[in-house]
Amino acid sequence: MFVKTAEFIASNTDVRKLPEPSLPEYAFIGRSNVGKSSLINAMVNKKGLAKTSQKPGKTQLINHFIINKDWYLVDLPGYGFAQTSKKNRAEWERFIRRYLTQRENLQCIFVLIDSRLEPQKIDLEFCCWLGEQGLPFLLVFTKADKQSGVKSDQNIAKFRKALLAWFEDVPSIFLTSAEKKQGMEEILATIDEINKN
Ligand code: GTP
Ligand code: MG
Repeated sequence: MFVKTAEFIASNTDVRKLPEPSLPEYAFIGRSNVGKSSLINAMVNKKGLAKTSQKPGKTQLINHFIINKDWYLVDLPGYGFAQTSKKNRAEWERFIRRYLTQRENLQCIFVLIDSRLEPQKIDLEFCCWLGEQGLPFLLVFTKADKQSGVKSDQNIAKFRKALLAWFEDVPSIFLTSAEKKQGMEEILATIDEINKN
């Protein structure tokens, strides 16, 4: 898919105020600092569209972007941010889970996982929750440029194996680097395919 236009639409915490659910929507989620906002910018080739930071906890709202005036891309706040209070975390949980379970035009959730790390409990639990809810999701491993391909592949294999304890099958997996623009075409092609159906 060729991205001709990518524009910011709105930021929200209230799911009742989100843009009209008239277009297909794709959400990007994962631990704080995993690289959600960077991946979105790399995908649409527009630096600074989604705000990024070295400090975790940068994205705090549900951010809608419209791509090619045809579909929505959504940048979400990260989970598992240690510096936040218990109250904040509970609030995040409530509003993100409400968004994920109630958004009728949500086609697919891209769960981002740091390719440098061994499987993390918080990511596995989140995938399991999506599975329990019957929400379709795909896995995107990020920051591939930060270590060897062998190391990324090992971590991906371990994650797959851990998921197979809960799931009969594992969803599609993408290995990406926002820095090197690796894996962007594959994600866009997948979205294109879903949009056509
Ligand atoms: P929150 O909004 O805080 O949840 O974080 P996020 O998941 O949106 O992460 P963000 O895109 O802000 O990136 C976090 C940090 O990781 C930034 O310093 C990015 O430059 C860096 N980063 C993201 N993707 C990559 C990548 O593919 N390669 C490298 N080397 N760094 C990356
Ligand atoms: Mg972010």
